[in-house]
Amino acid sequence: MKPEAEKILITSALPYANGPLHFGHIAGAYLPGDCYARFQRLMGKDVLYLCGSDEHGVAITLSAEMAKRSPKEHVDLFHQTNKNFFEQLEFSFDHYSRTTWPGHIPTTQEFYRALDEKGMIDEKTEDHLYSEQEKRFLADRYVVGTCPKCGYDQARGDECQRCASSYEATDLKNPRSKLTGSPLVLKPSNHLYLRFDKFKEKLSSWIKGKKWKDNVVHFAMQYINDLKPRAITRDSSWGVEVPNHPGKVFYVWFDAPIGYVSAAKEWAEKLGSPDRWKDYWLNPNCKLVHFIGKDNIPFHAVFFPAMLMGQDLPYKLPDEVPANEFYMLEGRQFSKSEGWTIDLEDFFTRYTPDQARYAIAANAPETSDSEFSWKDFQMRCNSELLGKLGNFVNRVLVFAKQHCNSQVPKISHVDEAFEKQMSELVEQAAQSYDQFHLRKASQTLMELCQAGNGYFDAKKPWVLAKDPSRRSELDNTIAYSIQCIKNIALLSSPIIPDSAQKIWHMLGYSSELAKGNWNEISKSFVPVGQKLNEPVILFRKVEDEEILLQVQKLGEKLKEVKEVTTTTYQPLKDPITFETFEKIDLRVAQVLEAVKVPKSKKLLKLLVDVGFEKRTIVSGIALSYEPEQLVGKKVVIVANLAPATIMGIESQGMILAASLEKSLELPQIQNLAPGSSVS
Ligand code: 2FM
Ligand code: ZN
Repeated sequence: MKPEAEKILITSALPYANGPLHFGHIAGAYLPGDCYARFQRLMGKDVLYLCGSDEHGVAITLSAEMAKRSPKEHVDLFHQTNKNFFEQLEFSFDHYSRTTWPGHIPTTQEFYRALDEKGMIDEKTEDHLYSEQEKRFLADRYVVGTCPKCGYDQARGDECQRCASSYEATDLKNPRSKLTGSPLVLKPSNHLYLRFDKFKEKLSSWIKGKKWKDNVVHFAMQYINDLKPRAITRDSSWGVEVPNHPGKVFYVWFDAPIGYVSAAKEWAEKLGSPDRWKDYWLNPNCKLVHFIGKDNIPFHAVFFPAMLMGQDLPYKLPDEVPANEFYMLEGRQFSKSEGWTIDLEDFFTRYTPDQARYAIAANAPETSDSEFSWKDFQMRCNSELLGKLGNFVNRVLVFAKQHCNSQVPKISHVDEAFEKQMSELVEQAAQSYDQFHLRKASQTLMELCQAGNGYFDAKKPWVLAKDPSRRSELDNTIAYSIQCIKNIALLSSPIIPDSAQKIWHMLGYSSELAKGNWNEISKSFVPVGQKLNEPVILFRKVEDEEILLQVQKLGEKLKEVKEVTTTTYQPLKDPITFETFEKIDLRVAQVLEAVKVPKSKKLLKLLVDVGFEKRTIVSGIALSYEPEQLVGKKVVIVANLAPATIMGIESQGMILAASLEKSLELPQIQNLAPGSSVS
């Protein structure tokens, strides 16, 4: 009997249905998840890939209120918009659910009941933020204030969009109403608290065995060490009702992750086998993988696992939490209100989903923030997809049509070196996909295309074609090139599924490549004599003019927005001569250690590597950066500034930072080593 395939339950963070998604979201929790799911299916795994809309919470009611829609109208609109967007990008979810699905209510309430029965829920009357002007309690997203961790003065009421800290709204300094700007006061209200503190030991020993990215474990451990009871209810009528507590609903971060469970239930119901969700969620042999953006780490690596630990049913805990960094657009955050965005409707009239998928995958924000830039997009499309992949496929297949009667020729002698090279690259790509290294997988794909091109060029089949006595060499060359194309189709399938399928079809297959098996396909040869289909062009050239136009559009939109907002710029300083400027020695320095300076809100003490030596620098950036955000980053310092003693510490240099009004940002160096001069 065939052994049962390993089960993998894959989730991508449920996006809020309160606005259209953009490529910035896609690069973090979504495309990496889809490529992983597609790869694991090819590996013969029994994959259940789930996502859906996160439709509760005050972020939704707030946006709906501002857009003058009911919350229901609002989520219906964006659920559909986002679902369509995923479809347009060829996402392969097995099910795309929504947390307003009625089956989500009993599932959430059951989670609560199990926790309550174990004594994990406390009911307390505490002070909450109240708007005298609006005559109501304002929950998290209705509140803005100053972040208690980093000092950002526009921080949201539940999590800081600058430093990703998560806290209670009452922890904010200077809390105000987001809608009216009015100051808020504290007033007592009754709420339910989940005793996360009771899970501390269990969570720490569970997370210790995990080989997750350092930043995920590190970030999660900070939360575990500091676990406190947290309110899981809100005063609202939009959300999952709390049993026996009229007027209260569950906090969105309580019900949203349970959405992963109810999505599986909805999927199973639709299949007509309502218990099938248990094969994944309650199966100790199933692997659970949560794809998320880094801002969701505490919820997926700490709070939701605690909620799962507190259930009667033997729920799976996450095995992997691949958390990605942020993905920007041309160096700044995507922002619809500032026009710093890509018009997706327009985008898809010009470019294919595969072009977008490849460009994002090749530059995925795996270890640090990355960005979409139009120039990079053009380069990925022209030099890589078209120049390396498309050209190779095309030149071989056109040649085979002309010289081999559009049939796969015979291999008469084994080319061990090329076979070895191909199988090593196939194996390398498999490992990269399996270990969440999507960037590396796309690089390996390009290496394979280059290997194919190199092989074809070296064999010069156009010379062989002129000499009938060298027919078998010609056949060999084309046959091996076709094997390489087959491997390209396979390797590229998770990232560019449409193009991979087209290649597969050109090779004469009528099956669906995505339903094939990675090991079987990579090890077998395209059958001798198989009829090849007419070669088609896979990628068109992206012209300079169109890219220029896109970049211009972006700048124009920003200018329009800028004109209506007034910014206070620093007055320009007196001119200096070039000689004076040249006296400043600017160097790249890598931050090795960073700690807060005791008794100071603004200062951090950093140990930096300047290549030729290590130095201590005291820098006034603590309101904008957490120490752990800085370790490993390469910054620019003034290296010949005379030492100064600040709060009793000798500072041997100064870090350069850009600042505008109250915002501050460090310029960063990506590639050059510490000690490099900056001029
Ligand atoms: O950050 C977000 O977009 C959240 N809606 C993610 C929720 S993930 C899960 F828990 F549902
Ligand atoms: Zn903050």
